[in-house]
Amino acid sequence: MQVRGTIMQHECVFIILGATGDLTKRKLIPAIYKMIISGVIARFAIIGVSVDDMTMQQVFDQARVFVPDIREVVWDRMIQSSYYHRMDFNDHAAYGQLNVLIHSVEEKNQLASNRLFYLATMPHHFMVITQQLAAHGVVQKCAELCNTVQHTWQRIVYEKPFGDSLASSRQINEAIAQVFDERQVFRIDHWLGKELVGNIALARFTNRIFEPLWHAEHIESVQIIGSERIGIEGRGQFYDAYGTLKDMVQNHLLQLLALVAMEDPVHFTADYLRDAKATVLSKVTIDNVVLGQYDGYQEELGVRPQSQTDTFAALKISIDTPRWQGVPFYMKAGKFLEKKEAAIHIKFKPVKCLLDICPTDTNYLTINIQPHEGMYLTLNAKKPGVFNDVTPINMHFSHAALFGPNTPAAYEVLLADVLRGDQCAFVRADEIDFAWGIIQQISNKQVPLHRYARGSAGPDALVSLDPERKIIWKT
Ligand code: BG6
Repeated sequence: MQVRGTIMQHECVFIILGATGDLTKRKLIPAIYKMIISGVIARFAIIGVSVDDMTMQQVFDQARVFVPDIREVVWDRMIQSSYYHRMDFNDHAAYGQLNVLIHSVEEKNQLASNRLFYLATMPHHFMVITQQLAAHGVVQKCAELCNTVQHTWQRIVYEKPFGDSLASSRQINEAIAQVFDERQVFRIDHWLGKELVGNIALARFTNRIFEPLWHAEHIESVQIIGSERIGIEGRGQFYDAYGTLKDMVQNHLLQLLALVAMEDPVHFTADYLRDAKATVLSKVTIDNVVLGQYDGYQEELGVRPQSQTDTFAALKISIDTPRWQGVPFYMKAGKFLEKKEAAIHIKFKPVKCLLDICPTDTNYLTINIQPHEGMYLTLNAKKPGVFNDVTPINMHFSHAALFGPNTPAAYEVLLADVLRGDQCAFVRADEIDFAWGIIQQISNKQVPLHRYARGSAGPDALVSLDPERKIIWKT
């Protein structure tokens, strides 16, 4: 169907599979609400799909607390434009009924057949849903005009985690490739929708003062941190099957690594960016790993009593490209740590010292993803008064101070990208494959698990990550 370009972006049916889960009420409904308010989406309907005996009214009632300052008119319009389809994802016949419902919703709401399928389910449902949507004609593989603004579209979003191993993610990707053109597929990693993550490549490639220095000659080491103060928050069963390596490192942290370490993409478009990121992920070697589990984890609801699941992971890795020869990359993530921090610290090499007393610190560029979004450049400057006395100072860009506190949440940014068909911030099949390969390398090493106290900096064994260099974590 050929319709005006703006209509193609501004209207669609959201079909949320897994509509009664946490993600829908905490993130997806609030994101759609904000997109309506900001005019990103003008005409829409929502179809919630789940096995539970619920209604959309109940889903909206649960979502309400996650939407600040609700405008009742908009909220009511959302409820009135929503439909619920109760089905078991393994019941193949139910996909035919879903198809009938989608058609009747489109007709009733006079929508032009743009369909956004959101799989907010556990990954073991991904294959059956993908295959059955296609088998019942609910989705079609797009032809060469895929993602052009003149045509109606069908796009599918896969929530993380994407599988639970290299083998399972490959199976899912194979099923997807049979049914969809890659341009229809959006594998989400919500950290890629965070403002300061979006800033990594932009800061590198739009500032002359950074890019020429961005390699082993000038950079001494890189730290990538995803520490949390919260625990597993009632998600015991899920978390125990995954752990920190699979829940945080396989996706969020490795995506940050790929953005920091990639070569210049040929152009700033989705495929070139993802080519560059995939190359980095294919060149990673694991030098050392420290895994931990917080005290009391095994008593958490849903966790196996003798569980050996990691709630903390620290890695030292190398990237085998000329740009990064000899530069260690350190990563750290975990639950119940002393501090909430998602950040990248890039440590530059010291300069030749010409002073009698040399500055003790070298330069750092810190990209602070959360909670205090911004960038810091640690420089050396003169202390007031004394002629040759140097002190470290911070040049600070505070995102909230400059742009205000209410910039769009990650899911809002990413859903708007899906509507536009922009895949820059979505993960391609080969990246997922390399990332799971890295986790597989670690699993093969049979790394011991160390205990750590809640609220600490992680297990004492963290010092063994890099005994020679005696790494000092920036924070
Ligand atoms: C999710 C993980 O992907 O990311 C959670 O499953 C983690 O365990 C969360 O807490 C962290 O992201 P954010 O955006 O909440 O800081």
